[in-house]
Amino acid sequence: MEKIIDESIQGQALSLNKKEGNGRKLFIESYGCQMNFSDSEIVASILSKEGFNTTQNLEEADLVLVNTCSIREKAEQTVRKRLEKYNAVKRINPSMKVGVLGCMAERLKSKFLEEEKIVDLVVGPDAYKDLPNLIEEVDAGRNAVNVILSKEETYGDISPVRLQSNGVSAFVSITRGCDNMCTFCVVPFTRGRERSRDPQSILEEIDDLASKNFKEITLLGQNVDSYLWYGGGLKKDFEKASDFQKATAVNFAKLLDMVAEKYPKIRLRFTTSNPQDMTIDVIEVMAKHKNICKYIHLPIQSGSDRILKEMNRLHTRQEYFSLIDNIKRLIPDCAISQDIITGFPTETEEDHQDTLSLMEYVKYEYGFMFAYSERPGTLAERKLEDDVPEATKKRRLNEIITAQRAHSTYRHEAFIGKTVEILIEKESKKSDAHWSGRNTQNIVAVFPKGDYKIGDFVMVRIDECTSATLLGEAVGYSDNN
Ligand code: SAH
Ligand code: F3S
Repeated sequence: MEKIIDESIQGQALSLNKKEGNGRKLFIESYGCQMNFSDSEIVASILSKEGFNTTQNLEEADLVLVNTCSIREKAEQTVRKRLEKYNAVKRINPSMKVGVLGCMAERLKSKFLEEEKIVDLVVGPDAYKDLPNLIEEVDAGRNAVNVILSKEETYGDISPVRLQSNGVSAFVSITRGCDNMCTFCVVPFTRGRERSRDPQSILEEIDDLASKNFKEITLLGQNVDSYLWYGGGLKKDFEKASDFQKATAVNFAKLLDMVAEKYPKIRLRFTTSNPQDMTIDVIEVMAKHKNICKYIHLPIQSGSDRILKEMNRLHTRQEYFSLIDNIKRLIPDCAISQDIITGFPTETEEDHQDTLSLMEYVKYEYGFMFAYSERPGTLAERKLEDDVPEATKKRRLNEIITAQRAHSTYRHEAFIGKTVEILIEKESKKSDAHWSGRNTQNIVAVFPKGDYKIGDFVMVRIDECTSATLLGEAVGYSDNN
């Protein structure tokens, strides 16, 4: 997803609209991908209807929920450390209840209750609507677990409570689950089979965001290009759909076209694209609409055909290059970012060199790079030995990060002297005299505040850059305001 905020603590409290209030206070925090952050907004909505008020203060919470990530071992360790912290608080406030949501809940199920004695509640990603019942169970002194994965659930009928929102950009999830079965990946096991959300409910959610003056929307899914609405149900059951359902089905290109057409003033992004599922129609729709950002997150994982095969990525290096060439042909200034895993089982030095040479060809604007982390239950764990030494994984990772940094700088330097449209999102972390926002290519730009405000589209002349940021000066409003 754009993009894993993994392993970094993104502790956050809700500011729910107070309804009647049951006098109980909820503290929720999220780890992992954007889908988790988006799911926490769904959970917040469900619990606000139950009258929970929220707190940013862990010490005064009656209910603590942690939305967890299983993608790498380190992500799980981070959550376990957080549970230790909750435990310390629970010693002072024994009536406080602790619930684990998300991928770790799904992966570990009721085992969690034995492993982490402080946990009262374990709820998988498809079971959030059951939270009110589960909380009742916990109130009655019993542990509660629901980790049932669904064929239908998309939470399309729930209007998310926007947590810690800047009021400018929001996520809208369009698919859940993943059918791709990359051999290293735990997601198909924790989030279940792929299903898409009714386009009508997607448009309604965007209507609501537009009415609240949001300026940028990111359509979210583990594999957005695989979106397919044919009246509900799993993607893999599409073959069994009726002729009418097949004829009226909506794919990702159609959905994107519909949304872009209806909201010409809203900037649209989407993530994540899996190379094997991204079609030329999607690129054509992007090229057609000015409001679709010129940015594609297109994970490659490895530049070696042999490793791609072992990973069950269903495309070759050459097919990936063709896709990149098509993108650049139709949208010449389109930015592309990657995910790369180093040290997948059996990866040789030659495979690693293939990854570096692939990077050299694409010169990604940005990248998310990880050392392989074996995940229990995945195909790679069952079939392959995790045989690349940690030190080798780390060294290869460093080489890849160094290459990426050089490519990011190269891409950023191309903006020097140009004037680009930036949507102001927040104050710069480094200076309260500067705004921070992104251009269409998803590159962060920082510039002196002037009279502009959060949510403005401004034209910024770029004067300098680093490998992470563009630096410049605002020269006026863009015509998108
Ligand atoms: N399709 C998803 C991918 C989720 S995982 C999305 O929307 O982003 C995000 C990234 O984590 C993957 O692309 C991969 O590069 C990395 N990853 C997944 N499993 C991993 C593992 N076992 N070890 C290391 N990195 C992993
Ligand atoms: Fe994971 Fe591959 Fe799906 S990385 S989320 S199985 S596309």
